[in-house]
Amino acid sequence: MKQCKCKENVVFAKRDRHVFVVCGGENCRCAGAKDLLNYLKDAPKLDGVDVRIAESKECIGHCAAAPAMVEDGQILRWVSPRRLRGELLRLGIAG
Ligand code: FES
Repeated sequence: MKQCKCKENVVFAKRDRHVFVVCGGENCRCAGAKDLLNYLKDAPKLDGVDVRIAESKECIGHCAAAPAMVEDGQILRWVSPRRLRGELLRLGIAG
């Protein structure tokens, strides 16, 4: 499991909590990071799950693979809303 290079942007999760940090850096914003944030905030089944959604204040160091995000401490690269939906399904927190 890869960890974010920039420790100040990492939010460590409790065991039963999922943490999603979407990169707020300029490259990721231009590549659609806002769409990822909006998707997470509007995801239908996240209401009953302990989920924390945040946007980093700075680049998380994976600009070449923008938009990037951190899911429970793991870097996800080239994330699209469709891929994000797949991740939520894999975690069992979206239907
Ligand atoms: S701007 Fe998002 S990884 Fe650099």
